[in-house]
Amino acid sequence: MHINKEAFGSDFLWGVSTAAYQIEGAHDAHGKGPSIWDIFVKKRNKIFNNQHADMACDFYNRYIEDLELLHRLNIPNYRFSIAWSRIYPDGIGAVNQAGIDFYNRLIDLALELEITPWVTLYHWDLPYALELRGGWLNREVTQWFCQYVKTCVQHFGDRVSHWMVLNEPTVFTAAGYFFGIHAPGKKGLDNFLAAAHHAALCQAYAAAVIKSLYPNSSVGTTFSCSHVEPYSPRQKDIVATQKADVLLNRFFIEPLLGMGYPTKEIKVLRRIEKFMQQHDERDLQFNMDFIGLQNYTREVIRHSYFVPFINAKIVSAKKRKVPTTAMQWEVYPEAMYHILKKFQAYPNIPPLLITENGAAFPDTVVHNQVDDPKRLFYLQQTIAQVLKAKEEGVQVKGYFVWTLLDNFEWAEGYAPRFGLVYVDFNTQQRIVKSSGQWYADFLKNDSSSQFTGSVRNI
Ligand code: GAL
Repeated sequence: MHINKEAFGSDFLWGVSTAAYQIEGAHDAHGKGPSIWDIFVKKRNKIFNNQHADMACDFYNRYIEDLELLHRLNIPNYRFSIAWSRIYPDGIGAVNQAGIDFYNRLIDLALELEITPWVTLYHWDLPYALELRGGWLNREVTQWFCQYVKTCVQHFGDRVSHWMVLNEPTVFTAAGYFFGIHAPGKKGLDNFLAAAHHAALCQAYAAAVIKSLYPNSSVGTTFSCSHVEPYSPRQKDIVATQKADVLLNRFFIEPLLGMGYPTKEIKVLRRIEKFMQQHDERDLQFNMDFIGLQNYTREVIRHSYFVPFINAKIVSAKKRKVPTTAMQWEVYPEAMYHILKKFQAYPNIPPLLITENGAAFPDTVVHNQVDDPKRLFYLQQTIAQVLKAKEEGVQVKGYFVWTLLDNFEWAEGYAPRFGLVYVDFNTQQRIVKSSGQWYADFLKNDSSSQFTGSVRNI
């Protein structure tokens, strides 16, 4: 079957996603306060080669050429995040007008170029001043966050009508508060549960703030998700997989849908109740306009006595000897189909959007060109899986590639390259990769961009 853009229908939303800390740079320009990531990257041996994002892609200074590039690539929807500490250098208190001005310029230019802005309000860069007051562990974060959201919506809501409250709460609470491998580097179950509960409350509270100001806006939030499969048909591996599923896929969506936290499979998660107040369970529920799903791979799970709390562990792709990306994630486009079917199966689930999907592979520049067949193959095959799910009735309304530019990939620094556009971090030169050119042709509905969804079982 030949796949082109038309197969998805004319109202299907195509786009790319980015995040402030990963691309903006200008970490202390024009009154911006430090975020937890600005501080975390300066600690020794937290980030690959001790890299940081002080400059990153210098998007703060180059947003004009980068938006023009988006326009040239025919990309109609652009998801980006607002850096909280550009708006509120101290997290709360005085607003930094220069921060408001920057996002105004960005939004205005996007609209002028007929690119629809999709704004993520929190993509992991909590103002450091708030971290000093407990950050996500302090329940007051819900008030700080709502104030920040209100300010953003008051300033930008006349032109922005698509909002995403959080980016992947599972990842920032688990990596940042349980494993300590992301900012702010805290560890332990209680830290994770407190951060998770406050983040889940913020999802619902902030969505209500947006709706109260602009009832017709479209409000969602985004979740990381992985298709999970047991390593073997043994009962122990099946139970381990169900536990991993709770943490990887179910933990934040279920309270949002009014189902409460999924604690049946992992009893110790009931400790979250310690951080809950009387009406919290009710308040966690919110009718979003859409749910953003972000999928990159599948995980194969087996039982393990040695892993505390869940007795489950991931069997790495390397161990399974399957092809991987530069993140060591299995190349498995079919995961997208399974994830879409899984989320669609929840009763009363809002329409779904794929707000991130992509792949990192090593890229080389030859004669000023970057040929990246592996990324191209992955994107096409995943898009084919989205179509398969859509044709089976899944309400999936759009697909955003992660990401426009090679950028700062958190703890992995600049090593993994996810961009449709190559960035030379010494010169800041941009080179559109062949995958980027293909996406541009596909979005123009150029017949040369048609492809066949033909890999394993499609
Ligand atoms: C997501 C995250 C992005 C990006 C991507 C690739 O978890 O939202 O910021 O890093 O993964 O790893």
